[in-house]
Amino acid sequence: MSRVLEVADLRVSFPIAVGGRVQPVDGVSFSLQRGETLALVGESGCGKSLTSLALLRLVPPPGRIESGSTIRLGDIDLLSLQGEALRRVRGRRIGMIFQDPMTSLNPVFRVGDQIAEGVRAHFPVSRREARDRALHLLAEVGIPDPAARLDSYPHQLSGGMRQRVMIAIALAAEPEILIADEPTTALDVTVQAQILEVLDRLQASHGMAVLLITHDLGIVAGRADRVAVMYAGQIVEEAPTPELFAHPSHPYTQGLFASVPRLTGPVGRLTPIKGSVPPPGAWPGGCRFRPRCPIVHPRSEEMPPLLDAGADHRMRCWLAADQSATVR
Ligand SMILES: Nc1ncnc2c1ncn2[C@@H]1O[C@H](COP(=O)(O)OP(=O)(O)OP(=O)(O)O)[C@@H](O)[C@H]1O
Ligand SMILES: [Mg+2]
Repeated sequence: MSRVLEVADLRVSFPIAVGGRVQPVDGVSFSLQRGETLALVGESGCGKSLTSLALLRLVPPPGRIESGSTIRLGDIDLLSLQGEALRRVRGRRIGMIFQDPMTSLNPVFRVGDQIAEGVRAHFPVSRREARDRALHLLAEVGIPDPAARLDSYPHQLSGGMRQRVMIAIALAAEPEILIADEPTTALDVTVQAQILEVLDRLQASHGMAVLLITHDLGIVAGRADRVAVMYAGQIVEEAPTPELFAHPSHPYTQGLFASVPRLTGPVGRLTPIKGSVPPPGAWPGGCRFRPRCPIVHPRSEEMPPLLDAGADHRMRCWLAADQSATVR
């Protein structure tokens, strides 16, 4: 397999009112292979979106990517690119779709023109060819009667249809990597399933790598090849999806699973993880999950590194090294 993206020790910081900076993304490392889907999972505020924005160098100022971070796209060092070279990567090599298509679509232009624009931004084709390509893309993302829909304005489409248009725009550039940040959160469950099915199909036919960002473990199973679980700015567990689902090992990941409703088996009470993710700047020293963790480990006041926890499975928890913990 060939590696299309490598992220190492990624750190994103923001200044805070009392002086100094906080680091909502704090030493994140992962890689993406061609055609692979990696799910980045975690509760609200753990740093998923900032991680994905950093990959496009779109961290809003005064936020910044700290020096020492590495983002490599193939053999390109993304953090050294400027101006035109950076714009050529954005959209063209890494595409992105967001949670809310209405904020990304331009309300005053017809969707066909917006897709054709996307095609022409990246390929030297005529208007006619760009429009044909837009028509083909609308059909590919499963929009019924695509020829008629070319002339629709965004407000004339349903939420699910708008999200399909966003996918068509992202695909117009034929990117190697697609970042999908909570692509279905705003949609109802049926439409959600349809959009995810479209993404699966397109990924298979285009061979893209996908970074799927979600707080919903339910959409990860059967879709992602690997899962990275984030907590308080760090990856705390990473494994191939079947392995993670069979043996969730970090107490935080176990907590996430315990709070997912199940349709099969005995109906149990959902056990949410107590408390909430503290904001950056309020993280405890040592293990950041310590105040919420159901177990007490003698080393919890030291920050655990990512430790081996089985086959191709790593977790940031001392339990991987030493089981001498007590249950609270
Ligand atoms: N522009 C910004 N300025 C200051 N802090 C920010 C900014 N954007 C994000 N943050 C902070 O960084 C942390 C991580 O934010 P991020 O948006 O990456 O979380 P997330 O995991 O995507 O959450 P969600 O599931 O709610 O989308 C949060 O505490 C957030 O408040
Ligand atoms: Mg987010």
